[in-house]
Amino acid sequence: RPHLRMDPLAGLMMEEVPLARIAAAHGTPVWAYSAGALRRRLAALQGALKEARLGAQVHFAVKANPNLAVLRLLGQQGAGADVVSEGELRAARAAGIPAAHIVFSGVGKTLAEIRLALAEDIQQINAESAEEVEMISAVATAMGRVARVALRVNPDVDAKTHAKITTGKSENKFGIAIGEAPALYARMSSLPGIQPIGVAVHIGSQITAGVGAYRTAYGHLADLVRTLRAQGLSVERVDCGGGLGIPYRDEPAPSPAALAGAISATLGNLGVELMVEPGRWIAGPAGVLVTSVVLQKLGEARRFVVLDAAMNDLVRPAMYEAWHGIVPVAPADFAAPLAPADIVGPICESGDTFARGRGIPSLAPASLVAILDAGAYGAAMSSTYNSRPLAAEVLVDGDRFALVRERQTQEALLAGQHVPEWLDA
Ligand code: LLP
Repeated sequence: RPHLRMDPLAGLMMEEVPLARIAAAHGTPVWAYSAGALRRRLAALQGALKEARLGAQVHFAVKANPNLAVLRLLGQQGAGADVVSEGELRAARAAGIPAAHIVFSGVGKTLAEIRLALAEDIQQINAESAEEVEMISAVATAMGRVARVALRVNPDVDAKTHAKITTGKSENKFGIAIGEAPALYARMSSLPGIQPIGVAVHIGSQITAGVGAYRTAYGHLADLVRTLRAQGLSVERVDCGGGLGIPYRDEPAPSPAALAGAISATLGNLGVELMVEPGRWIAGPAGVLVTSVVLQKLGEARRFVVLDAAMNDLVRPAMYEAWHGIVPVAPADFAAPLAPADIVGPICESGDTFARGRGIPSLAPASLVAILDAGAYGAAMSSTYNSRPLAAEVLVDGDRFALVRERQTQEALLAGQHVPEWLDA
């Protein structure tokens, strides 16, 4: 994490900005994203794909971090967007990502979302079922448009990741079985309003067990492309999905070069346009959640460090038993002796626990700590559970930082709610 360092005076810094300064300016909990890390990581991926002579485009998976400033920055560096909802499509457009660089994925696109995708004339819609193909055809025909559609197939491979985020097995809801793909692709080419453009796959997220599962999935995809072409069908593009894992602890994780190698070995000679849709690999390590200690509670059996951030801010530990590094921000705290404690939020559930038995020094109220690798699926998955406002977000760029999302106000939490008059009648 070259964008983070401990300064003996200023404490934990992101690039040239002390996290304590961000907390003082905008309060806690607050998300901070490193522009340098975002740029470097996107460039590393683009570089690895280029090195392998794949000419592949990177489409950032907006779900990982839909902040407009983040999308803007990535778009400026040539990233397209992979979106899964009207909101994400609008966010990508609002951030200046051209419609021609936007792919729409997801198993349940509504008619309104398909209409919007066609009205914006986005690059590609990834269809996930025969039923959806018919829907897209009907909408496109009614609008007098032609939808460029890729068929997302389910290669039935095990990406060996957490069950909640594996997506490429036959029991998962995603894509259509590879065996059914040729017939459906042929149907697509006969339907009005549809131009079959290619095939897509996404086998899961936080893939750390090497690139073997990718190779297997892409191998199946390459076979499919050959089968389709043998039937006289045109396949111009292959969408290789996302999922590249990152080391949250110190676990080994595959490199972009290894992923590029897997793509190259399987799909490299087909003469197709290639794209990848990473989210976490680009944004995860680039962000931290800065939070304050509310108090330390010395329970009978253990010490609890109670933070002002909670599972409504960062749900990953509660939802996936995910491990995130947690470090004190102040130099003295950073250097203090470690002892095991449970690091928890104030929400009324035992699941509101960021770490159990984690080595962390004794911390006075108001001490700052940073939860690491929180740039992907952090703010993106926040809720207002326990009527807690959504936290602020800050972008750091060298020695500058800017508020890129205001903390939600208490008023905003109540806004839009109505008590029917007849309750009081
Ligand atoms: N493309 C598609 C079609 C996807 O469904 C996803 C993620 C991605 C790309 C990006 O995957 P990535 O490169 O970020 O692994 N909330 C979970 C992760 C859910 C991922 C869902 N799909 C977590 O916090 O671990």
